[in-house]
Amino acid sequence: MPLHSDVFQAPSGYNAPQQDEPGSNTVVYWSENSQVKKKATGNVYTYKFYTYTSGFIHHCTIRNLEYDTKYYYLVGDRNSMRKFWFTTPPQVGPDVPYTFGIMGDLGQTYASNITLTHYEKNPEEGRAVLFVGDLSYADNHPNHDNVRWDTWARFVERSAAYQPWIWTAGNHEIDFAPEIGETKPFKPYTHRYHVPYRASQSTAPFWYSIKRASAYIIVLSSYSAYGKYTPQNQWLEQELPKVNRSETPWLIVLMHSPWYNSYNYHYMEGETMRVMYEPWFVEHKVDIVLSGHVHAYERSERISNIAYNIMNGICRPVKDPSAPVYITIGDGGNIEGLANNMTEPQPEYSAYREASFGHAIFDIKNRTHARYSWHRNHDGYAVEADSMWFFNRFWHPVDESSQ
Ligand SMILES: [Fe+2]
Repeated sequence: MPLHSDVFQAPSGYNAPQQDEPGSNTVVYWSENSQVKKKATGNVYTYKFYTYTSGFIHHCTIRNLEYDTKYYYLVGDRNSMRKFWFTTPPQVGPDVPYTFGIMGDLGQTYASNITLTHYEKNPEEGRAVLFVGDLSYADNHPNHDNVRWDTWARFVERSAAYQPWIWTAGNHEIDFAPEIGETKPFKPYTHRYHVPYRASQSTAPFWYSIKRASAYIIVLSSYSAYGKYTPQNQWLEQELPKVNRSETPWLIVLMHSPWYNSYNYHYMEGETMRVMYEPWFVEHKVDIVLSGHVHAYERSERISNIAYNIMNGICRPVKDPSAPVYITIGDGGNIEGLANNMTEPQPEYSAYREASFGHAIFDIKNRTHARYSWHRNHDGYAVEADSMWFFNRFWHPVDESSQ
């Protein structure tokens, strides 16, 4: 969408974003059922990227919030002060229902705007977004024009200011541009999008975990080292055994580059990570793996391909009740167009595939059942273009396939 689009307009008022001055680093907040206003103090900084200098970027963590409570919060100064709200998640527990939205490769095109609107209008009402990477596509603009990181943030504010988006780093977050002297990977992304990685003993913001309601979410980085002995590999090996399915029955993994992808785009890019980690996912009975990158939609059967060693030649995906369902949902809107060229015939492991823009909902009912649905942008808000009931791999590991 052009820079003058309404969804990109900065709010009015003195020193409103993009700010010329640091402004206030205080957030005032209060719960719906209380008149007591509290304050939290954040950090503020700027960063440079080639000839671009960012506005003053504020990050503020509010601690010791009550579960399942609506909070209002105020940011900014005087007449440019702005009020938002969010609701904290319910306490973690095995049968706590919770609804996640799923989006990937969103970008800031007209299609992106329709995707976000469809997510907001979906009657299933997602309470947090699992975002599988590729946010702004600023790097597709001349010199990675970081103004496009600003506009993207303003575009998604209408959702992201009110509910958490759980971030995964995609290739468009790398912003590695040695030709203009920008050699620190993920510089704009890490300055703008903070994740609570230290809470899960991670040493970098690209891989981490979050517990929410009855779900345990593991975020991985397709673009950080993941081979044997690397920090991400060590972390994941220690992380998976920590998942207590009696507390959080649903084990969800996010990554950007898909392992099972039958489109002729980014074909087999996820293969080396699959070889490293797929045996662990099967051993630990991951329920669902979400990725993006391919600008289309695809859902796999429950399959694994872990029998191969360099001698035996057993290298076909097979049905596996302990394996996750793999979903590619890089169909947010991007800037490069849809991936509409598929390998033919459709491989047996691929249950459903379609090159349309959209988003999905993962609606956890209890420890055994979750309703999954994919929603196309060109359908009505409530239409499920693809759907399935997920049976939890730990508590109810029966075959869900229809045949
Ligand atoms: Fe990507």
